[in-house]
Amino acid sequence: MTTLAGPAIAAASTETSEAQAEGAAPPASAARERLLMDFGWRFHLGHAADASKDFDFRGNFSNAYNLGSFSTLLFDDSDWKPTDLPHDWAIELPFTNDSALRSKGYYPLGRGYPATSVGWYRRVFELPAADAGKRISIEFDAAYREACVIFNGFYIGRHIGGYDPFSFDVTDFVKPGGRNVLVARVDATQSDGWFYEGAGIYRHVWLVKTHPVHVKKWGTFVRSQAGAGEAMLKIRTEVENHGNGVHNARVTSTILDPAGKVVGKAATPPAAINQSGERAYEQQVAVKSPALWSLEQRNLYKLVTEIDTGGPVVDRYETIFGIRTCTFDAEKGFFVNGKSVKLRGTCNHQDHAGVGAALPDAVQYYRIRKLQEMGCNALRTSHNPPTPELLNAADELGMMVLDETRMMSSNTEGLGELENLVRRDRNHPSVFMWSLGNEDQMAATDAGLHILSAMKATVRKHDDSRPCTIPPPMGGSHFNHGGYNILDVQGYNYADPDAEAFHKTNPKAPVMGTEQVSAVATRGIYIMDPDRGYVSSYDPWTTNGRSSCEGWWTFCNARPWLAGGFIWTGFDYRGEPSPYGWPNIGSQYGIIDTCGFPKDSFFYFQSWWTAKPVLHVFPHWNWPGLEGKEIAVWVYSNMDRVELFCNGESLGAKDMTKDGHLAWNVAYAPGYIEARGFKGGKQVLTERRDTVGTPAKLVLTADRKQVDANGEDVAMFAVEVQDAQGRYHPLADNQVTFHVSGQARLIGTGNGDPTNHESDRGSVRKAFNGLCMALVQSTKYAGEITVEATSTGLKAATPVTISSKGVQLRPQLAAWEHEIPMGPGISGMWRPEPVAATAGRGGFGGGGVYTFRQNGNTFTGTIEGAGGRGGGGSESPVAIENGKVDGTAISFTAGGVSYTGSIKGEVIEIQRAALAGRGGGGGSQSQQPAPAAPRPAIGPPPNGVDPSNIGTVRAILGSSGAGAQGGGRGMPAAQPIVLRRAIR
Ligand code: GAL
Repeated sequence: MTTLAGPAIAAASTETSEAQAEGAAPPASAARERLLMDFGWRFHLGHAADASKDFDFRGNFSNAYNLGSFSTLLFDDSDWKPTDLPHDWAIELPFTNDSALRSKGYYPLGRGYPATSVGWYRRVFELPAADAGKRISIEFDAAYREACVIFNGFYIGRHIGGYDPFSFDVTDFVKPGGRNVLVARVDATQSDGWFYEGAGIYRHVWLVKTHPVHVKKWGTFVRSQAGAGEAMLKIRTEVENHGNGVHNARVTSTILDPAGKVVGKAATPPAAINQSGERAYEQQVAVKSPALWSLEQRNLYKLVTEIDTGGPVVDRYETIFGIRTCTFDAEKGFFVNGKSVKLRGTCNHQDHAGVGAALPDAVQYYRIRKLQEMGCNALRTSHNPPTPELLNAADELGMMVLDETRMMSSNTEGLGELENLVRRDRNHPSVFMWSLGNEDQMAATDAGLHILSAMKATVRKHDDSRPCTIPPPMGGSHFNHGGYNILDVQGYNYADPDAEAFHKTNPKAPVMGTEQVSAVATRGIYIMDPDRGYVSSYDPWTTNGRSSCEGWWTFCNARPWLAGGFIWTGFDYRGEPSPYGWPNIGSQYGIIDTCGFPKDSFFYFQSWWTAKPVLHVFPHWNWPGLEGKEIAVWVYSNMDRVELFCNGESLGAKDMTKDGHLAWNVAYAPGYIEARGFKGGKQVLTERRDTVGTPAKLVLTADRKQVDANGEDVAMFAVEVQDAQGRYHPLADNQVTFHVSGQARLIGTGNGDPTNHESDRGSVRKAFNGLCMALVQSTKYAGEITVEATSTGLKAATPVTISSKGVQLRPQLAAWEHEIPMGPGISGMWRPEPVAATAGRGGFGGGGVYTFRQNGNTFTGTIEGAGGRGGGGSESPVAIENGKVDGTAISFTAGGVSYTGSIKGEVIEIQRAALAGRGGGGGSQSQQPAPAAPRPAIGPPPNGVDPSNIGTVRAILGSSGAGAQGGGRGMPAAQPIVLRRAIR
């Protein structure tokens, strides 16, 4: 079931740590298994308006089973595309110039595009017989959107929201010791947002097996109070009993420090949990001299929770957490472990070049590292719950996270999404605050007060340690109205003066910017060019009179009461094209483009947000035709003083002001400009821009020397176009072709151009202002990965080889596939052509799978599911006997039926006939008991079984040969079966 509020929790049992235990960590061998299900899916577009193009799915739930042949084992999905998760089908669609598609990045999704708005996912897997008796769940980290899950033919459930995780307990429907078929129909017709959201199962899927008595989903919560030399951990553990009868369960909590050493342990007394009930256990464990988590020192502890019911441990559950304090002070801002931290944040959507919304985990890490390069220390997950791996990256790399729910509502769905978010994310030390929505006008009304009060109560129920906020619409008129009265921290979007006025009248309320700046810029562009869809990079170019980067930061940094803020946005994203529409398919708000290439303002922030010496001068110096005209030359730097030169001549030195930039107007003359940066009177840095020659060659670099051979890891290969002298060409737009060999595959490309309409999935990408990129993903095999980049007329890049290191794969569930016999003649897999009258897509009516292994003039093999009922027939194979091939003639028997026919190339046509004395049914499980007495022409034999049918009657009325012997139930006597060679 979707995890919403659970049943009432039984009275809490409390236990305080009685002893600090030293020694080894508890063993990892208990019943729980969490298996990644990302690999081996098949994908096919369906249709939002036409059932005949939607696998006959009519959305009729009159029975909660047999929803379609797609859910049967033998369904022919050979024209479904092999697909691994995470997967976003939207980026494979053609860009479409329709203003209704602005928010969707001009990908054809929505009501007007039913043929591309529904996607089907299918995956078959085996479970061992030993899984009988375990609780089995399937967990989706999220899917965009309206997922309908069908498992082994049973309707399991639906989930609407596109961002929050959902799971289904499928214990009643699994086949331990058998093959299981999981199908998800995902419908991206409707929207959750006004920005690009992707389409499909764009996050991970897991299969979770537990003992019936187990830790509830996201059922642990560690709060810490760090005092002098000691931290007191308050641990809450929720345990469920899905077994028969009452179970007395005991919780043992073991704390491991960042080095893996046990530093605390506590066990509760056993406490009864009723059948189908749950119980919360509270414990306290003291940790001496704790290693605190901070932005600089990412010390992560592990809680190992073990459950026993009087015997061996039945569940073992791990929770990563950090010990830290986060506090707000209305006068002094934000503090981590008592140390003042100005929140230097960015808002970000989940979207990246080459992959859309389906970011491999490695890309999350890449993005956080890029943001950190410019000194960013905080991230707002606007406007939706993030994927858990983004939070893992934030925990491990050091980034504070403002964690946001999508739906501001106290309806069941809204509270359910929020509850999922809080329960899932509350142990991450990086998460410092919950955001209850974004810019909702309703929040300021009485209804808003009720809604936000209920939402805050939901947060408090599951996490009493973090504050709540909600970013209001721009302008101060909402402050102190409706729901804004109950916020722990007052957020504000853009309106700096209004925030200051609020602070004056509400001096006890902490204030934090939740969304700032919204300046637009195109990487490497310095002239406003609406026709081409490009925006100049000189700060400020805002869409609507909001602030410049420098305007906001100088305001923010000068006010200690202001905790910091979040720039809109760190990275560019698809959809919400701004400031122009088509041909722009994405926004230009990013400080970094969609690939990770920095724009100029990146260096403004790097200058004032990092201790690294920075000197960045722009624009480029290629302005043919503008000779003698003045060009504004800007410098971003944290040097004390910068001197600018043009063609060797000094244009004067200027002192840098804190949080500022420097500018000169320079008459353009081809050659070069050069900035020299001085610190403490010494020249420390030099930076120059040359007038470069024509594009001559490509230079390729990788961001990693080594990746993990796990089928998931990703390296970024950047191409720079250079002139013959090896200088970066800032205007080059040559088309680059990538070629990947060795243990990897190309998963996407990008160039950061907001107007580029090449497919992200191709291997070809134009350079944009001299740069483009390929995303390359490892296979599961160790070895080398080589990437080549070529471009007509340019010298190819020197190929770059990195290594892919063998690693232990994380626990995962293999996909099951039919084994296809290789060999001569008819060896292989064959499927009957669908029978028009009864067919769904393969599998119904005349479906099935025929497997032949030819050896000389004889063959063996099996038949599965042929001639079965709507569900696709029996899945247990029936052995083929007496298989003979004589030239083009073929004959065999199977399951009491004899088959004769002929081979015509890749087609075999066969006739069936029941063997004498056997009531063969053509399928494997349809054999009928032999009649006890001669069969009458009309009606049943004396024992009442097997009444006559039209096939029998027709046979008696005049057919001869095979038909006259009368097929069994469901087998029209004289109808030939046409088999075609199949690939699946
Ligand atoms: C904000 C909004 C963001 C984005 C931004 C563009 O008001 O919260 O989602 O639309 O404007 O400037």
